[in-house]
Amino acid sequence: MKFDTKCVRAAQRPDPTTGAIVNPIFQSATFVLPEVGRNLGFDYTRSSNPTRQVLEELLAEIEGMKYATAFTSGMSSVDAVMRMFKPGDHIVSSDDVYGGVIRLLNNFLAEWGLEVTYVDSSNTDEVKAAIQPNTKMIWIETPTNPLLKVTDVEAVGKIAKDAGLLFGVDSTFATPYHLRPVEYGADIVMHSTTKYLSGHNLIIGGVILTDDEKIHERMKYTQKSVGAIPSPFDCWLTIEGLKTLSLRMARHAENGMAVAKYLEAHPKVSRVSYPGLESHPMHAVAAKQMENGFSGMISFELKGGIPAGTTLMNSVELCALAESLGAVETMITHPATMTHAEVPKDEREARGLTDGLVRISVGIEDLEDILADLEQALEKV
Ligand SMILES: Cc1ncc(COP(=O)(O)O)c(C=O)c1O
Repeated sequence: MKFDTKCVRAAQRPDPTTGAIVNPIFQSATFVLPEVGRNLGFDYTRSSNPTRQVLEELLAEIEGMKYATAFTSGMSSVDAVMRMFKPGDHIVSSDDVYGGVIRLLNNFLAEWGLEVTYVDSSNTDEVKAAIQPNTKMIWIETPTNPLLKVTDVEAVGKIAKDAGLLFGVDSTFATPYHLRPVEYGADIVMHSTTKYLSGHNLIIGGVILTDDEKIHERMKYTQKSVGAIPSPFDCWLTIEGLKTLSLRMARHAENGMAVAKYLEAHPKVSRVSYPGLESHPMHAVAAKQMENGFSGMISFELKGGIPAGTTLMNSVELCALAESLGAVETMITHPATMTHAEVPKDEREARGLTDGLVRISVGIEDLEDILADLEQALEKV
């Protein structure tokens, strides 16, 4: 099956008892055993569930990887990966990762003994220089939240391979529609399925994908031991959302590029970061590794700094002032007070995440309506 067909059809079979074309929601905590020592493939939903199994098979097919393990959030997926390591182990991470990942690493896993060095992973020399004798994994996000920094996945994959390290990629912003990190050497791919994959602001979820059986067994064991599992209903909503992934991403990318160009040409905007723009410092790398466009995420700064950004965000009408991203609705966010509020100000600024930064997740509405809303809001700035 080609990618678009997989999104709609992979892992799904008509229900054998009724012929229902839509996969059922097996909303059941437990499963009756026909006899002692034998089950029909399932025993208890924390370990596995038929609806979750379809979602996991579907995600693996779409990503082009062997195994997927679904979690209750993107954060619990990242946590499951980080807990493969032991106290005293070290990882190298992109500096501009989602604020919740920094909170998890600095405030929980550091106490538990996991060491981390943050680097600008778009600079491969920095990545190489941060490797220590106790380093176990290189973890990157590309494009990053919220600065839209891009990392050369193939180059970092090679560094990881040469050093005998695992290589993990948070590919939430790109989705497998634009980028499949496994093709460039990733051992682990992670998504917050809350975002583009489910796509409709309905659920919180996450997934870990791998081709490595041992890593997969560890993920299943974590799922069963910790119990951070998505409900059957949330799995079902994600399956249904995935059916339109290609159509949605094509529109997100088309609208994203147009909004980025509009903002770049606007006299009140001082800086736009969008991997599809030639002005993006890593545009050539993004064009090399991303297919079919560059997704719908943009960050930008206004000439009037924080007050101007605040006026803009308070003036939008169609664009929703909201946390999250990657859904059909256009959403506008202030990272410094919303998604990255818990990252200390000096750390934020050292990473280039200024208080004036505005992030926009361009939705699939009519482009003219999105631009008209931004125009009326920018007039008030
Ligand atoms: C890139 C990225 N990774 C991980 C997460 C965490 O995912 P969740 O909110 O589903 O826990 C987010 C959330 O915004 C994100 O943007």
